[in-house]
Amino acid sequence: MEIKKKQEKHGERTKAILDKYAGKYAKETTGQKVYSCSVCGFEYVGDLNNEPDDYKCPVCNMPKAVFKEI
Ligand SMILES: [Fe+2]
Repeated sequence: MEIKKKQEKHGERTKAILDKYAGKYAKETTGQKVYSCSVCGFEYVGDLNNEPDDYKCPVCNMPKAVFKEI
């Protein structure tokens, strides 16, 4: 497969992930903590400390420890 076609497929997969989760997780962020997954960039709005220790990123499935407050 040509590189161009691979890149197009990657773009389609990324768009599908964003479409799937954007509405579900989009929240008003004013005054709230925001954390970013250092692996995929998913943003968690709220206090991540309220999530269980086994919380995983809903996009890339990495553990809570990879999130950084932004
Ligand atoms: Fe992630």
